[in-house]
Amino acid sequence: MFSLQGKKAVVTGGGSGIGKAIATILAKQGAEVHIIELGLEQASASLAEITGVGGKAFSYACDVTDHQAVVDTFKGIGAIDILINNAGIAHVGKVDTTSETDFDRVMNVNVKGVYNCLHAVIPQLRLAGGGVIINMASIAALIGLPDRFAYSAAKGAVKAMTMSIAKDYINEKIRCNSISPARVHTPFVDGFLQKNYPDNIPEMFEKLSKSQPIGRMGKPEEVGALALFLCSDEASFITGCDYPIDGGFTTLNN
Ligand SMILES: NC(=O)c1ccc[n+]([C@@H]2O[C@H](COP(=O)([O-])OP(=O)(O)OC[C@H]3O[C@@H](n4cnc5c(N)ncnc54)[C@H](O)[C@@H]3O)[C@@H](O)[C@H]2O)c1
Repeated sequence: MFSLQGKKAVVTGGGSGIGKAIATILAKQGAEVHIIELGLEQASASLAEITGVGGKAFSYACDVTDHQAVVDTFKGIGAIDILINNAGIAHVGKVDTTSETDFDRVMNVNVKGVYNCLHAVIPQLRLAGGGVIINMASIAALIGLPDRFAYSAAKGAVKAMTMSIAKDYINEKIRCNSISPARVHTPFVDGFLQKNYPDNIPEMFEKLSKSQPIGRMGKPEEVGALALFLCSDEASFITGCDYPIDGGFTTLNN
């Protein structure tokens, strides 16, 4: 079960956190993994981890906000079976404390970056005779997360794009689903704490952990396992769905 032997997978933001865990498990299951990162340096740890155990991986320096660069990179990879649209950035603020610059930056990476990769991957999925797309959304797309205006707006768009793609390409054997994690312990979270709460990191870490009813943050590998299932032939009846992976956050907190 869950073999990806002979499949070619692209993972955006595959150099860190959730993307790294997904790239690693897909490679372990036999996929040839193509990591798209801001720079080759950001992809190097994932590349070493995969190739170190005999897996196949390649990396590309490509900013997902650059439309032409994304199209050229995907074309260069050739036929693609799996896309994990994972690259994303965080932002803290309510609507009145979100500057236009910050709003545009979050939208550019988290929405336009996802669009760019979707636009570029469809012709490459057709070359493979169909395939699977997973978009990384967030529980911010499902409930009102305090102080996350731009981020929530962007992740809501990711969830909506997922449904749109699932409908438009169902007859071309392309499945598209999204994953909505609650807090997962990655460099994304460490960076957030460092930037916003430099004086009380341990207390805030504890608070963020407790906000999941299960009492802790998720692990990147747990999101990786869900992504693997959704990419595999075992999930061939699943499309147009969003999968919360949240320690009970969206259902047990009220
Ligand atoms: N960690 C969480 O708690 C959490 C929760 C819900 C959703 N998510 C989502 O999961 C995804 C991954 O999060 P993470 O926590 O692993 O983050 P991370 O910061 O650890 O990793 C994100 C990676 O994306 C890359 N990246 C950022 N902008 C890019 C761009 N323009 N072009 C190419 N690569 C780019 C970064 O270099 C980085 O390696 C994001 O979309 C995030 O919104 C994370």
